[in-house]
Amino acid sequence: MKTFLKLAMTGVIALAVLQLTRPSIPSGPMTAEIQAPPQVRQILEKDCYSCHSNQRRLAWFDQIVPGYWLVRHDILTAREHLNFSSLGQKPVAAQRATLYEAINMIQLGAMPLPQFTALHPDAKVTPEELAALKLYLAPWANVGSTGIASNGDGSGSALKASLAAIPMEFNGLQFQPDFETWKPMSFTDRGDNNTFRAILGNDIAIKAAMSGNIAPWPDGTRFAKIAWQQQERSDGQIYPGKFVQVEFMVKDHYLYRETDGWGWGRWHGADLKPYGADSRFVSECTGCHQPVRGDDFVYTLPITATKSGRGEVVNNRASALPQSLPYQPLSWNVITMMVDPKARTMATLFGNDAAMQVVRTTADKAPAYAAGSVLALVTWSQREDPHWFGGRIPDNPLSVEFVEIDASQKARTYRCYDGRLLTEHPVPIEDGIKRSATLMNLAPATLP
Ligand code: HEC
Ligand code: HEC
Repeated sequence: MKTFLKLAMTGVIALAVLQLTRPSIPSGPMTAEIQAPPQVRQILEKDCYSCHSNQRRLAWFDQIVPGYWLVRHDILTAREHLNFSSLGQKPVAAQRATLYEAINMIQLGAMPLPQFTALHPDAKVTPEELAALKLYLAPWANVGSTGIASNGDGSGSALKASLAAIPMEFNGLQFQPDFETWKPMSFTDRGDNNTFRAILGNDIAIKAAMSGNIAPWPDGTRFAKIAWQQQERSDGQIYPGKFVQVEFMVKDHYLYRETDGWGWGRWHGADLKPYGADSRFVSECTGCHQPVRGDDFVYTLPITATKSGRGEVVNNRASALPQSLPYQPLSWNVITMMVDPKARTMATLFGNDAAMQVVRTTADKAPAYAAGSVLALVTWSQREDPHWFGGRIPDNPLSVEFVEIDASQKARTYRCYDGRLLTEHPVPIEDGIKRSATLMNLAPATLP
């Protein structure tokens, strides 16, 4: 019995000593992450990045020697073969080729390594995820001229090639080249620095806002906040003028655990220069967002009909458009916005997918809307932003105007809904024609 005890003790001590022999696994910045839409990147991040990226994501039991040695060996070998953190340097065609290979490996059950998924069941690729990857690569579909497939939001627009080449932030956050296609969460009129802001969210963000799943926001949520200088025009209204900057918050509670669960970045000016001198710029962001830590560090009150039991964290009032309207424009994309300083109202011009296809290729002038385009101007009264003194946000909707553009650009239908219940308000034909022309002639807010 004594010998057994001795042996056991020796074993325990030997294991403890072995823990000290632990060559490191280097982790590094994501120098050039693979270019793919967020929904694709997310799958790779969850299932493949622990081995095939510069990120180091080990479970506690991976850290125990001798298991650690095996894990380390796998990771170093995996990175040598395929590193999603630097794959973005390669030509788009090469990136696609690698993704095809990856899908086939998954389909064959070879990846992620089965011995890994046995211990990390979360990293298994689900049939839905595999379907999403295949849908993205869709081998027989047409691909946009840039070679990057459309972002699947139905608008069919290829990403602007120039945006895909914007350098990353000093903390390693990648620029989000598809942000212009994200959907609006809210708008602010900032009297403290005379800017307008549109706060947009990717699909995951919008879904979370619509279902009230925002405490905390789910991993994969991405916000963009676009700021423009305010410019008064001859009609007495204030419009977005010069583009100032775009900022991003990207949620991953694990990856960004040291910066409150969010990746932060700001790209300034028309040339989208990454902000800051080094990664310490992030403390400015987290510092100022600290007061709203109870709302997962998010200031914006998303415009959504979902109720929240936690005080004022969503903007229900602004979302109150009747179901009976011919369209629900709050889920469309933003063309521009305006504030009437005397009436204290703010309005946003939304476009359906057909309208946005034209808007995205138009700069600083009236877009030549094609048949099938529908514009919607939603006007709200304004109220103070309860989270930020100096900001105003949309309150109750006052009116919704629609312009439908038919086959001939001259044939268009104007309809106006207003009053307490936003009911249709008959408009003389002449007035409708004038008002349609005004809305169709509004220049889209400038984007890089
Ligand atoms: C536990 C670590 C681990 C995980 C997780 C993992 N892999 Fe691998 N992967 C490896 C290793 C190790 C190799 C090298 C295998 C070899 O050649 O022996 C490899 C090789 C590959 C290769 C071949 C690359 C080449 O050019 O040789 C592809 C493609 C691949 N993995 C895709 C994936 C995908 C896609 C995922 C996620 C769904 C994934 N892997 C998850 C460890 C991993
Ligand atoms: C001086 C305070 C302040 C600083 C500094 C700041 N923010 Fe914000 N941020 C705000 C406020 C206030 C809002 C609400 C929207 C608005 O009116 O601008 C906001 C909103 C946002 C949003 C939209 C989501 C949300 O939380 O509402 C993003 C994205 C964002 N900020 C990113 C950043 C990044 C990135 C940095 C650092 C480079 C940063 N912010 C620094 C005050 C700040």
